[in-house]
Amino acid sequence: MSQREVQLESITAEALAALEQAKDAAAVEAVRVLYLGRQGKLTEQFSAMKDPGLASEEKGKLGKQLNAAKQRLEEALAARRTNLSGSAPAKSSGIDATLPGYPPSIGRSHPISQVIDRILNNFRAQGFSVVQGPEIEVERNNFDALNIPPDHPSREGFDTFYMADHGKRTGYLLRSHTSPVQIRFMDTHKPPLRIVVPGRVYRPDAVDATHCFQFHQVEGLAVCPGLTFGDLKGTLIAWARGMFGEKARLRFRPHYFPFTEPSAEADLSCIFCDGKGCRVCGQKGWLEILGCGMVHPEVFKAVNYLPGTTGFAFGMGVERIAMLLHGIEDIRYFYENDARFLEQFPGGIR
Ligand code: PHE
Repeated sequence: MSQREVQLESITAEALAALEQAKDAAAVEAVRVLYLGRQGKLTEQFSAMKDPGLASEEKGKLGKQLNAAKQRLEEALAARRTNLSGSAPAKSSGIDATLPGYPPSIGRSHPISQVIDRILNNFRAQGFSVVQGPEIEVERNNFDALNIPPDHPSREGFDTFYMADHGKRTGYLLRSHTSPVQIRFMDTHKPPLRIVVPGRVYRPDAVDATHCFQFHQVEGLAVCPGLTFGDLKGTLIAWARGMFGEKARLRFRPHYFPFTEPSAEADLSCIFCDGKGCRVCGQKGWLEILGCGMVHPEVFKAVNYLPGTTGFAFGMGVERIAMLLHGIEDIRYFYENDARFLEQFPGGIR
């Protein structure tokens, strides 16, 4: 190696080491000026090219070496700049202003609220109004006026939460269904009427994958001269198609409720297998989703409606429908307030 080459090597090594030490953009720029500036140490080496004693062959070789050194330093400068712009600036501030920010968490409606909204919208489309009632009720609205006799099993302490004061019942209870809102509304309104009632209800059930002591229902009530069971079926079928798609079918099985006569349970054609039978519907092809019937004459009597009044009512559990719609296997997910679960339902803000 010629003396020039050794010198060139050492200048380059020195420049690269200085660059390594440069902790911010200003320091990098200082290194650039020191070596590649107009009077820079590397720039100066180029003047050797003007040496008249230099053979043209040597000149070519030196030129190549100088350009290679310059290019190497320029690349290192560029790399150091990118490297610095991607990491913390001054350590002293304690804040890394170059990190991407956290997106603000703006929340959204709960999956249960989203399903309630869908249920209600599909009834609004048929002219139903949305009405609400209190969660604390009196026995008359939750039971008596709904033709549920005092000795009915649903009135026992293990099926209803009663409010007590020093062990003595106060006459208040947590409503065990949304049906008492039928009574409240009819107490204060004359027919014709068409309402849907969303809300929270309470039952002292042991908590498991499909039960909770608190859940949601949507109640429906229509009262109008001449209403028949056919109107009830037509209303629910139109709702089911809006809710689950045009292919949805409903099957009505005779059932018993004290406040409707006749009464039925409605099954929805399985939304997963379209009725063919699968794991979700237990190979039955049908999913039980609601209770319904023609309002019992005793209920109309309790709210002082005229004899011969006709109407239908229905009630459904929201959690069950939400679980079916989303393929959720445990009701408890709804109440754990775990963002990892809730974020999977990107519905709008209510
Ligand atoms: N209230 C009933 C329940 O909770 C559902 C229902 C409502 C049935 C209206 C018929 C009519 O099970």
